[in-house]
Amino acid sequence: MRKAVYPGSFDPATNGHLDIITRSAKLVDKLVVAVLDNTSKVPLFSVEERVEQLKEITKHLPNVEVMSFSGLTVDFAKSINSNIIIRGLRGVTDFSYEFQMALTNRSLDNEIETLFVSADTQYLFFSSSIVKELLSFDGNIKNMVPKVVEEALYKKIKTRG
Ligand code: PNS
Repeated sequence: MRKAVYPGSFDPATNGHLDIITRSAKLVDKLVVAVLDNTSKVPLFSVEERVEQLKEITKHLPNVEVMSFSGLTVDFAKSINSNIIIRGLRGVTDFSYEFQMALTNRSLDNEIETLFVSADTQYLFFSSSIVKELLSFDGNIKNMVPKVVEEALYKKIKTRG
């Protein structure tokens, strides 16, 4: 069974992430979307909230599972018997960081391959940080994130004041 891991912060998940998930799910038997529980960064959404949002937006994709993890991505991949890491590539600006990360992961485990998937051109400028930036200035984020995430974002800023 071909199993891949798509790791990320997903704070929040964007339509670009969802496009990568949809495309990647077609390439493998099982795709595990892995949300990093990073204690050193203060996220907007808790890891539980991000997992729930991703579960909701991928519920129509039967071979996609959403999990959280902490520690190294390669260790998580190994723990679920996967040797493929999926990463989205939006363009040259992503490339050097992603290439460095892929080579680091390979140096940690030579059996694990990183596959780069690019989202549809309409999503290429989307990012979680841009969404948060727009949100903080009341900019329109409608087309950038799934409905569930959009609602959660507005709820979050309301409760934060
Ligand atoms: O969505 P992001 O923030 O670009 O995802 C980055 C992520 C989570 C894939 C990366 O930070 C990661 O793999 N972190 C886990 C720690 C790790 O394995 N580091 C080694 C690779 S540099």
